[in-house]
This record gives sequence, C-alpha cells and structure tokens, in this order.
Amino acid sequence: MGLLSADFGIDLGTANTVVCRGDGTVLLDEPSVMLVSLGSDGSRKPILIGHQARELTGRTPVGMTTVRPIRDGVVSDLQSAKGYIVAVIHQVTRRPWERFRPRAVCGVPAGATALERQALIESLEEGGIGRADLIPEPVAGAIGCGIDPLEPRAHMVVDVGGGTAEVTAICFGGILAASSCRIAGDEMTAALNQYLRQEHHLIVGELTAEDIKIKLRSSGNGSGPIVVEGRDVFTGKPRMQTLDPDEATLAIRPTVDGIVDALSFVLDQLPPQAVGDIMQTGVLAFGGGSLLEGFQGHLEEALGFSVGMAERPLTCVAEGAAKALSSPRVVDAFKGAPPQF
Ligand SMILES: Nc1ncnc2c1ncn2[C@@H]1O[C@H](COP(=O)(O)OP(=O)(O)OP(=O)(O)O)[C@@H](O)[C@H]1O
Ligand SMILES: [Mg+2]
Repeated sequence: MGLLSADFGIDLGTANTVVCRGDGTVLLDEPSVMLVSLGSDGSRKPILIGHQARELTGRTPVGMTTVRPIRDGVVSDLQSAKGYIVAVIHQVTRRPWERFRPRAVCGVPAGATALERQALIESLEEGGIGRADLIPEPVAGAIGCGIDPLEPRAHMVVDVGGGTAEVTAICFGGILAASSCRIAGDEMTAALNQYLRQEHHLIVGELTAEDIKIKLRSSGNGSGPIVVEGRDVFTGKPRMQTLDPDEATLAIRPTVDGIVDALSFVLDQLPPQAVGDIMQTGVLAFGGGSLLEGFQGHLEEALGFSVGMAERPLTCVAEGAAKALSSPRVVDAFKGAPPQF
C-alpha cells in the first residue's frame, strides 16, 4: 500500500475497540461507546468516544445520549456505526494525509451472517477506510498470539468477549469446526449481580458488579473477602456487604459451563488427527472474559485438555488483524463468509 497512508488492524468489539498500526503498535484501546447529540430532525452527531463517553453512561444531559454501535460483535445501527468509525479513524490518525483512505483488516465474529459482514464493510468504507477486509476474530486472535493459521496442523481457540464466546478450530487456512454462544463476560457480570440480589439482598449497578468480577482476579488467591457497597432490597438504604471470592466464583460458574459446552461441541466435531494436534498444543484462550479468576483451571478440569492464556488477551485480535495486513494469503484464505456450523 501507499507509503503515506497508514494501515490499520481493527477489532470492533461489543465492549472494547482496539486499533493497531501495521507494525502491531496499539494506537487505540477504548470502550465501544459513543456520546451523541440528538438533533431535532432525529440526527445523531458524535461528540465523544471511548472512556470519556462511557463515564457519561446513565448521566447524560438532555439532548444527548450514549450509544453502543456494536452489539454481539456486529454493527447494531448503520448510522451510529459510521459516525463511530469516523471518530475512531480521526483519533488514530495524527497527520491529515494518514486519513487518506487507509486500508484496514478488521475482525468479525466467526458466526456473523453475510448481511452482518456486508454492514460492517459498508460502515468501514463509509467511515473513511479505503479498502476493508474482514477476517474471523478467532483467527485474528490466533495470529496475534503467534499461530500460523496456514500451517497443516489443527489449533483450537476460545475467544470470550463481552457479548459472545466463540470457539474455533483452524487448520491449513480453513475452519474445521466452530461454535458461538451469546454467553460471555457480560453474562458473568449479570450472574454476579443476580446472586448479590438473591442471596445478600443487595442491589448494585452494572459497573459495580463488573468491578467486583474483575477484582476476583487479585483477591482469588486467598487475600480475603471483597467489600461491596449497594442498596438493601428491602429498606432501599445503602449498605456494605462482604463477599467471599469463592462464593462469587461459584455464582459465575454456570455461565462458564455454557462456554465449556461450546468447547465440547467443537471437540466432538473434530477428526481424531486434529484432536491429537490440540492435545499436544492445548487450547488457546483470549478475550477479556477469559481473564476471570479460575477460568483457565475450570476449563482444563472440565475438558481434560491444557488451556493456555494469551499474553495480551484484550488486544491480540487487533494485533493479529494488523499482522494480516502484510499477509495477503491469510486474508484470502479467510475473507469469505465461513461455513455455518
Ligand atoms: N480481569 C477480568 N476478569 C473478568 N472479566 C474481565 C476482566 N477484564 C475484562 N473482563 C471482561 O471482558 C469483557 C470484555 O472483553 P473484550 O474486550 O475481549 O470484549 P469484546 O471483544 O469487546 O466483545 P465481543 O468479542 O463479544 O464483541 C467484559 O465483559 C469485561 O467485564
Ligand atoms: Mg472480541
């Protein structure tokens, strides 16, 4: 591609957007949230994106609202998605000539339909990208972790995002089997929220529940209970509650079991030779949801396979998409709509 324009690897996730430069440098890593002003004609003008926009969720002044342009990994509304992509591209291009129709490889959920893929390409191209290629997110994540998806050996990955968990087995530039479920990080947060309400009669906001879930990682190694602030179900008054990390882990367990089922389903579809490869190398996990305390151990116990964590589970999809910019064979192999399993 041209020397003057910058090229990008993009991961437009339900929870987070990550953009990398061709050399793998992370240029943007922000929540997929946009603050818009509402015109009287129904138009929506983007004002802010990312962390700053997310902070305003639930506290926007009249005439403004926050939107999440991506749902379950796909474009939820074309107009918002275009506005969002324009703002993202603007943020990652410092010099005006870099904005001259850059090329991008963007991750797309392996289970996305042809229509959803088309909407994403349209949003990217109308958002200012000169040429957009899509590759399945699990494949991009694998590449970001150093796996060569063209090699004649089977690899299995599980990507646990905010909205969806995707399990995919790849080999020799193709997909052997895949399964996608709408149980992922956000569902874990919801399970914890419900548990606090039912067992401790405590109401907490979604952001608080997510904080507790993330804190489990540091407090899961016997460093004591977590103090939770919320509102009492019966009296409506604020109150503190201590929560044992093991208790919280157990509350989230059923959602993790949904992901185990998706993994078992994919393993059952694989020919023995491919299973042999995966037994040797193990299953690779990435996506923010895989950071849950005890996730890796629970999967290993349930499946009997070793499970490895990506070094950078939140950015490896965008990093892999960026690597694919310089690998036309990989883009060609995976750019078509994958078979539906
Ligand atoms: N330390 C942690 N422990 C548990 N969960 C975590 C942790 N860090 C992040 N998460 C969760 O990871 C999820 C976001 O992950 P990620 O950024 O990979 O999603 P995404 O790619 O935007 O979503 P999707 O792939 O579904 O479109 C959120 O649900 C968040 O709560
Ligand atoms: Mg993702």
